[in-house]
Amino acid sequence: MRVVEQTDDVVMITDPAGIIEYVNAAFERETGYRRAEVIGQSSRILHSGVQDAGFYKKMWDTISSGHSFRALMVNRRKNGELFYEEKTITPLRDSNNVITHYLSTSKDVTERRRLDEQMQQSEKLASIGQLAAGVAHEINNPVGYISSNIATLTRYLDGIFRLLNAYEEAENAIGDSALRERLHALKQEVDLAFLRDDIRALIDESSEGVARVKKIVQDLKDFSRQEEAEWQMADVHKGLESTLNIVHNELKYKAEVVREYADLPLVECIPSQLNQVFLNLLVNAAQAIDHHGVIHVRSGMDGAWCWVEVEDNGKGIPPEHINRLFEPFFTTKPVGKGTGLGLSISYGIVQKHGGRIEVDSEVGRGSRFRVWLPLRQPGSATAEAGEGQ
Ligand SMILES: Nc1ncnc2c1ncn2[C@@H]1O[C@H](COP(=O)(O)OP(=O)(O)OP(=O)(O)O)[C@@H](O)[C@H]1O
Ligand SMILES: [Mg+2]
Repeated sequence: MRVVEQTDDVVMITDPAGIIEYVNAAFERETGYRRAEVIGQSSRILHSGVQDAGFYKKMWDTISSGHSFRALMVNRRKNGELFYEEKTITPLRDSNNVITHYLSTSKDVTERRRLDEQMQQSEKLASIGQLAAGVAHEINNPVGYISSNIATLTRYLDGIFRLLNAYEEAENAIGDSALRERLHALKQEVDLAFLRDDIRALIDESSEGVARVKKIVQDLKDFSRQEEAEWQMADVHKGLESTLNIVHNELKYKAEVVREYADLPLVECIPSQLNQVFLNLLVNAAQAIDHHGVIHVRSGMDGAWCWVEVEDNGKGIPPEHINRLFEPFFTTKPVGKGTGLGLSISYGIVQKHGGRIEVDSEVGRGSRFRVWLPLRQPGSATAEAGEGQ
């Protein structure tokens, strides 16, 4: 029993009906329940609601027929937190081969899963980032000359139209009436009046389209930006305020902005990039609000970290979207409204700052995006000076 008591594995022994008879010290540590609180209780107190009735039926069928059962489960700690367990339940029998107890041993794998998920996510984004940078690079050049050619063509066409106008004015001076007739007929045939208008419209539309592609390419480059910008000690609130000014027009009809700033020290960062993060979060918040809502902009400190958050009371995010938010091109907005790059760019920037973004959202209630930033970058002169004190 001393071994069981001291192992890091969580051990629980129940009677055949699932009533807890013994738990070890690791159980108390992992679940937050004290031994006296759980002995005599059903092992159901750990249920999280994540596994369905079918899961438990299969578990009971397996163990009551004398087999062991292994599974990855989500259970609930005393404080309400969910945790992942790799659990094995083994039936214990007496000398008559009757099941007298069930022995459950498990390992808490929550942290491992979280790290795995984080790693997968950042690897995925890093490789998409590389791909994006490559694509952006390839598109940049052709888009550059298409856009400059459109500008040149517009100038040439202006010239041609001016010349055409002059010819039209000169038409009546043509003595040869057969030639005049032919010109007139040709003008009708090609529908010159329509061409004039439509050529203009086509060119305008094409330049708009090219401008949009350019913006996307620029966003993609920002997303995967490798080159160094200026690190400096900056006032995060100042950046927030200038960003709020920029988006003022987009926000003013959508929401009231409520500021709840803490006292923050200067933060070592690349201010222009952080502003881009704030901009994306604020625009998303406004776009999530259908009619009129409230956007809270808050800041705070915790040890060597500070945070800035943007909370809206808009439509919220369904759970199945949460893991995809930071993927480039993931968007639920109509074509032309969102390209799905805002959050992926923001993710890249925050990661470069050694920080992280937390999301909390509920459909129908709203969303909160909190950006955590270290006050100092590791290895920087200021960080070392700070440590020496
Ligand atoms: N505050 C929010 N409330 C509800 N949904 C959000 C919020 N922020 C982001 N989302 C969801 O995440 C998706 C991705 O956001 P992201 O900012 O990356 O792209 P986008 O806003 O769709 O387009 P872009 O930012 O490129 O214009 C959005 O389409 C939306 O579904
Ligand atoms: Mg966005």
